[in-house]
Amino acid sequence: MSVPLHYLRWAVGLDAAETQTTAAERTCLAKHAAGRRAVVEIGVFEGVTTRVLRDVMADDGVLFAVDPLFTGRLGVSLHQRIALGEVAKSRRGRVEWIRATGREAARDPRVANRDVDFVFVDGDHTWDGISNDWEAWSGKVAPGGIMAFHDSRETPGAGSQNFTEQVITRDPRFTVIDTEFRLTVIQRVTARQATASAGT
Ligand SMILES: C[S@@+](CC[C@H](N)C(=O)[O-])C[C@H]1O[C@@H](n2cnc3c(N)ncnc32)[C@H](O)[C@@H]1O
Repeated sequence: MSVPLHYLRWAVGLDAAETQTTAAERTCLAKHAAGRRAVVEIGVFEGVTTRVLRDVMADDGVLFAVDPLFTGRLGVSLHQRIALGEVAKSRRGRVEWIRATGREAARDPRVANRDVDFVFVDGDHTWDGISNDWEAWSGKVAPGGIMAFHDSRETPGAGSQNFTEQVITRDPRFTVIDTEFRLTVIQRVTARQATASAGT
């Protein structure tokens, strides 16, 4: 189906917004994003998981929704219009839209000098793409904070799965705490955990 037709069908309630995540993956994301106060999503598309994160974040929190949302021939993104509508269905916290790649967004003045406590990476799934997001965001995650990666497992051949296996899960700053189908969830270790593991 063409994007304009999908948009029209969404606008009158005939189509749901689209996502490649499963219901179980979204439940897993919601569990780990619950109560978080500085939430980031890299890769919004039509805002399905963005809304899931907004539904459970802290009421006084902020959600940075990052996507270049590449425009079509007419200079508008109908996916972005759907995302705006979907995310507005939840009223928790505050949403900051950053129209940029994950790497560019980390330099945005709204996030450049602050920590975050939840990052869902679901943008560019090539090796270079996820590598850029990892380099830009992993150091911004506060101790105890969470990163989740879609297409990081059960997706043979994907750069995102290879990078997760070869780099992310071997990084001593983080521990894998959960998986759900194509989703991997890691947590930044605290200073106490790091000291304890150095002593063993
Ligand atoms: C798989 S979709 C995201 C789906 C969304 N998380 C959901 O499940 O509801 C991937 C999105 O990533 C965006 N994207 C592509 N490259 C990106 C990058 N380098 N940084 C951030 N987003 C990117 C695309 O525009 C697309 O909207």
